[in-house]
Amino acid sequence: MRLLITAGPTREYLDDVRFLTNGSSGRMGFSLAQAALEAGHQVDLIAGPVALAAPPGCRIVSVETTQQMLEAALACWPACDVAVATAAVCDYRPRQRQPGKIKKTGAALVLELVETPDILAELCRLKAGRLVVGFALESQNGRENALRKLHAKGCDYIVLNDPRAIGSEASAIEVLDRQGQTVAARSGPKCELARYLVQWAGGLLSARRDNPF
Ligand code: C5P
Repeated sequence: MRLLITAGPTREYLDDVRFLTNGSSGRMGFSLAQAALEAGHQVDLIAGPVALAAPPGCRIVSVETTQQMLEAALACWPACDVAVATAAVCDYRPRQRQPGKIKKTGAALVLELVETPDILAELCRLKAGRLVVGFALESQNGRENALRKLHAKGCDYIVLNDPRAIGSEASAIEVLDRQGQTVAARSGPKCELARYLVQWAGGLLSARRDNPF
């Protein structure tokens, strides 16, 4: 199978040097890419700014902004069988990016923010029977919020991630289906979780070969 994986944070610039972002290492997405390659699959990895090396053999597209991540994902999606959105996308951007560096004036600076595009929702809109898996990191009412996101974005499954996953080597995950049932669960180092998820997705795909999602 060929997987499209979004990973890492995106950046939204206020001016040429300052930006809004999310605290994401990209480790989950890169581990998934590595696990998929080891299992003999092909990977298109769309990555925001991270301090990780791309696993050898994957096709990496490095981006900064949400709009760039969206465009790269849409360009890769037609050739893929599965999309997995692990990216911690910056949901808002300053309405205007100022050229140069905003000067201090001694007064408060008010920023107007507008929403960025939802990459996962866009991939779902174009899914055409393919498997789409989202990620949700929730600090409270995890299952309820994750399920709401699954339906709002239109994906097939959502991986509920422990908030302690941020920037850490290990995590605990639970995969929810559209009915809110837990269909897979595991805790451990992210590389192990990644192998588990790749195996789960591969099994799902071969079981549903003639049956679109
Ligand atoms: O940020 P949120 O909790 O809504 O993220 C849920 C899922 O949606 C994740 O899979 C994330 O990668 C994806 N997402 C996205 N584009 C956004 C916001 C989130 O692809 N603008």
